[in-house]
Amino acid sequence: MTGQKIDGIAVATSVKERVRAAVKELQNAGITPCLATVLVGDDAASATYVKNKQKACADIGIATKDHKLPVTFSQKEMNSLIDLLNKDDTVHGILVQLPLPSQLDEFATTSRISPLKDVDGLTPYNIGLLTSARAILKPCTPSGIMELFEYYKIDLEGKNAVIINRSNLVGKPLYNLMLEKNSTVTTCHSRTRNLKEHCQIADIIITAIGDRKKFLLTEDMVKDGVVVIDVGTARLEGKLVGDVDYENIIKKASYVTPVPGGVGPMTIAMLLKNTVTAASISKEFVQHN
Ligand SMILES: NC(=O)c1ccc[n+]([C@@H]2O[C@H](COP(=O)([O-])OP(=O)(O)OC[C@H]3O[C@@H](n4cnc5c(N)ncnc54)[C@H](OP(=O)(O)O)[C@@H]3O)[C@@H](O)[C@H]2O)c1
Repeated sequence: MTGQKIDGIAVATSVKERVRAAVKELQNAGITPCLATVLVGDDAASATYVKNKQKACADIGIATKDHKLPVTFSQKEMNSLIDLLNKDDTVHGILVQLPLPSQLDEFATTSRISPLKDVDGLTPYNIGLLTSARAILKPCTPSGIMELFEYYKIDLEGKNAVIINRSNLVGKPLYNLMLEKNSTVTTCHSRTRNLKEHCQIADIIITAIGDRKKFLLTEDMVKDGVVVIDVGTARLEGKLVGDVDYENIIKKASYVTPVPGGVGPMTIAMLLKNTVTAASISKEFVQHN
């Protein structure tokens, strides 16, 4: 059997069309959704990520406010900037590009963002709501993966899902979202013993390591009909690659995401969706006060 490629670009386009319509509705009500981006330092990859997010916003009518800060930016300065953005009624979403230089505390920084403007879903408040199945603003990559499952009608109920990642950005929120859909979820990481055996009994595998020297998911590690979501991104001989031996796995799987063109476009689409959701929340707030 040959499986189906999950086309993240197509699904992201359909999400963006819905978001574009919501932007128009907000504009008609006098609100232009606006995302503030915060980039510290001159890491080229981070700068490209922020530029791509800003471009995606511009494409569908979301305004952006760009904050490029020197690598020496202090925690005190960061706190003041976040406070200012929290108070700014024209800003609906705040995105602090991670990782931050070592003098800045990522947890202290993301925690300071107003939960109502937390478009990355990383504040303790929104994480708490997520674990209680009540979150509105959810982390972009995990919610993008859930959107892929929904679009391709991949039923999660009762399935054995293995997530190879336990970060706050990917593995932990995805665990909660899949559990909510009644999957039996196992989280694996660098200290997991017998990773191959966990993978071999999985109906669904989500891998997010991003280092081919450490890990590559190969066909002998999966069962027939498996669904594979590849979140990992790394550079190999100048090419963008994931954690999965795509060409061989797709011969055995039912669905596989490619890299590029799988999860990546979904992450950006969900950021746009969260920004518009945050703008809608602010509209409700204005109407009720
Ligand atoms: N496409 C997208 O939109 C998107 C979005 C987010 C992230 N990503 C990519 O996803 C990857 C992970 O991102 P992240 O921020 O979650 O990074 P991270 O915090 O470094 O997480 C990497 C995870 O991989 C685990 N790991 C490392 N080596 C392993 C091994 N040999 N066996 C099993 N597990 C192992 C780590 O385990 P420990 O916890 O034990 O260290 C950790 O949980 C990166 O490549 C990143 O670029 C892509």
